[in-house]
Amino acid sequence: MRTAHPFRPPPPDRDEPLLDVAGIEVRYGGIRALTSVSLHVRRGEVVALIGANGAGKTTTLRSLVRVVPWSAGRATFNGVDLSPLSTEEVTELGISLVPEGRAIFPNLTVRENLEIGAYLHRNKQAMQESLEDVVKLFPRLGERLAQEGGTLSGGEQQMLAIGRAVMARPSLLLLDEPSLGIAPKLARQIFEAIRAIAASGVTVLVVEQNTRLALEVAARGYVLRTGEVAKEGASKALLDDPEVREAYLGGH
Ligand SMILES: Nc1ncnc2c1ncn2[C@@H]1O[C@H](COP(=O)(O)OP(=O)(O)OP(=O)(O)O)[C@@H](O)[C@H]1O
Ligand SMILES: [Mg+2]
Repeated sequence: MRTAHPFRPPPPDRDEPLLDVAGIEVRYGGIRALTSVSLHVRRGEVVALIGANGAGKTTTLRSLVRVVPWSAGRATFNGVDLSPLSTEEVTELGISLVPEGRAIFPNLTVRENLEIGAYLHRNKQAMQESLEDVVKLFPRLGERLAQEGGTLSGGEQQMLAIGRAVMARPSLLLLDEPSLGIAPKLARQIFEAIRAIAASGVTVLVVEQNTRLALEVAARGYVLRTGEVAKEGASKALLDDPEVREAYLGGH
């Protein structure tokens, strides 16, 4: 059973962003992958993080779950400084990352993959409720609970990876390229599920190369360019921005 959380987050201030990132710098050896990334996500928002290959999108998400350390800057979640925390502690605080490339367990069944996501749950009933929520989000998974994860299609594996993260009942879900390599129809279904996850009260920060799809679901977005935020704004404004259209929407 999980004991009371040791970090004692302060009572939530409704005006404070849930996630507040200020001037994060990340180095890989001598290379600065992030020079200074500042962004925030308010409770209940869906926010998109877009940018070209190598801009630092994945690095930003990996730094937030403490897989890579930052060398300057600050990030708080619900008022708690993330810098001294381990990846596991960040998960316990309520942040879940769905990494690029659908890291599921291919030899475990869909049900087993989902149950692993719920390891923080105290009891079987909570696990069952979470499983029902995921099956509602992704009926295709419900039809395939006994199937091995590795035999799912690419799109279904992405659904499973997201479903597993949802099983942990996060308050902030970080998604890295959920539509990568997936047929447009399934990608749209995945984004509809992201919309439903957000409607259930989960805050979402989503990294995407499919800029249009991401900005259609997100209310706001940030454009990363070589490790810095080059632009930010309401999704509609970004979709209408000539530079964004030229660079990330194929000029359309
Ligand atoms: N483990 C690593 N070691 C060294 N350099 C790295 C490492 N991971 C990423 N980088 C470098 O950091 C920069 C940012 O990479 P990152 O993966 O964050 O970009 P990205 O925006 O997610 O790109 P993509 O759209 O291709 O996924 C790149 O120049 C990359 O080569
Ligand atoms: Mg990436």
